[in-house]
Amino acid sequence: MTLTEEIIKLKREKNAIVLAHNYQRPEIQDIADYVGDSIGLSIKAMEEKEAEIIVFSAVDFMAESATILNPDKKVLLPTLGARCPMAQMLTVDEIKRWKVHYPLVPVVLYVNTLASAKAYCDICCTSANAVEVVNSLDAETVLFGPDHNLAEYVSRKTGKTIIPIPERGFCPTHLLFQPEDVQVLKMKHPDAVVMVHPECSLEMQDIADFIGSTSQMCKYARSNKAKRFIVATERGIIHHLEKENPGKQFIPAYKDAVCPNMKLNTLERLYRALKEEKYLITVPEPVAKRARKALEKMVELRI
Ligand code: 13P
Ligand code: SF4
Repeated sequence: MTLTEEIIKLKREKNAIVLAHNYQRPEIQDIADYVGDSIGLSIKAMEEKEAEIIVFSAVDFMAESATILNPDKKVLLPTLGARCPMAQMLTVDEIKRWKVHYPLVPVVLYVNTLASAKAYCDICCTSANAVEVVNSLDAETVLFGPDHNLAEYVSRKTGKTIIPIPERGFCPTHLLFQPEDVQVLKMKHPDAVVMVHPECSLEMQDIADFIGSTSQMCKYARSNKAKRFIVATERGIIHHLEKENPGKQFIPAYKDAVCPNMKLNTLERLYRALKEEKYLITVPEPVAKRARKALEKMVELRI
């Protein structure tokens, strides 16, 4: 039996499903029950009724959110070391420091944070709904973290005062995209449509035809008549885009833009995770209770 066949067999035997992020390796996307962005994956995990085990093939904060939103399920992360560096950039102490200066200002946290940080925010957001989440608040000033570029994007779109916490939180993978590279690609392919993730710099956002989360990019590419797209996000998404759009061409805006954390998950590790039921992701209930409120508020907005 191949590894893929073994995984499919184990999924059945153990009543498990695999949820995978758009950045996962192609072979993982291909055996997953659902592939999507942070908000799509959170909703899938939250609404899952049948399965006893959810193997969450992504990074730490996404699996944490799944276990917070659906505490009755066993949520497994195939690789314990798959941690998003941006999520480590905002500590509880830092949030508390900012709150001393702005006691009446709401705190909006990107889901790319640890559960301990989420426990200290008013509402969470993803790159798919950050603008709508901030607009839903009856406040003209918002503390927003940890991604500085997403904070700038939200500030431009809402016209509100967005205070980034920490001052310059960032994604090391999206930092790799530079407008010069896109300009070179555009000279070669003038018909190409440019899709940019809001974790990219403002200079990259300025040259985008479309800015959105990974699944919003997939939706945009499906509905757009263009035949060629330049894609400024982690290159794992190219597999998803190609699978859904035969006949269209997807060009990475920077071919080395890989998230090493996401890529720690391999078929072998996923197989071991299922077989040995590891690594079980847990969040202490007092923290989970507070973080759940912030996550559920976001999900309830259904945007
Ligand atoms: P999406 O929610 O757009 O999939 O983004 C998650 C992420 O980690 C981007 O780097
Ligand atoms: Fe974190 Fe960036 Fe990787 Fe997304 S691409 S998981 S933000 S390091």
